[in-house]
Amino acid sequence: MTSVPAGATPPRLSAIWAQARGGVIGLGGSMPWSVPADLAFFKSTTSGCPVIMGRNTWESFPERFRPLPGRTNIVVTGSLPTAADTIDGCAHHDGAIWTDSITKALSVASEAPRSGHDLWIIGGSRVYEQVLGLTNLPGVIGGRLTRAVVTELDVTVPGDRRAPELDSEWTMTELGSGVEVRGRAADSDGVLHPAHIAYRFLEYTR
Ligand SMILES: NC(=O)c1ccc[n+]([C@@H]2O[C@H](COP(=O)([O-])OP(=O)(O)OC[C@H]3O[C@@H](n4cnc5c(N)ncnc54)[C@H](OP(=O)(O)O)[C@@H]3O)[C@@H](O)[C@H]2O)c1
Repeated sequence: MTSVPAGATPPRLSAIWAQARGGVIGLGGSMPWSVPADLAFFKSTTSGCPVIMGRNTWESFPERFRPLPGRTNIVVTGSLPTAADTIDGCAHHDGAIWTDSITKALSVASEAPRSGHDLWIIGGSRVYEQVLGLTNLPGVIGGRLTRAVVTELDVTVPGDRRAPELDSEWTMTELGSGVEVRGRAADSDGVLHPAHIAYRFLEYTR
């Protein structure tokens, strides 16, 4: 990972998620769909930048896919998995940095190597909600979350986690769209079945 040189513009704090109809983002600890085009979009969008997530989102990734490669992975939890390092106050475990507060996670992310402009909040719903409400954050442009990249999936699936609501303060731009022909979507029992799923990549800024 190449680093942004010291003295460069401060990072932008951004969030990214995919949502089905009704704002569903998760079911039973994972996502009630499979859309390879969105996984590729997520990877290319976040690569090279720190990613911050809640402990449930970390656990939603299959062990062989975590930590997410090419990105500093920062996990927020109320119970650190190992003793905190005396230097940075974080636990270093399973290839990720574990912290017990979102503000500490943001501070660690600002110091982490990055090749792009963003610090990414990658979920889940508990973390999105909290970060949306934070203001006066040091070291990020505008002192708050100013960008959300949302994949809108035109599919109805059951869910127990939802995306945060973005109010009228946010302006939306469409970045692209397509149809995933290798998609799968959950039925009412949570079982995945093949499906063609139309999607739109949207960018919200404020
Ligand atoms: N569709 C998408 O794009 C997308 C993206 C991400 C996740 N998801 C889905 O969303 C679901 C997970 O979301 P979730 O809301 O259940 O959980 P989450 O936000 O990923 O994680 C919640 C956990 O994070 C820790 N945490 C959160 N805020 C904290 C704070 N201020 N201080 C300390 N610890 C804090 C706590 O961990 P401890 O319990 O360890 O204290 C808490 O239980 C899964 O179904 C996942 O697949 C979907």
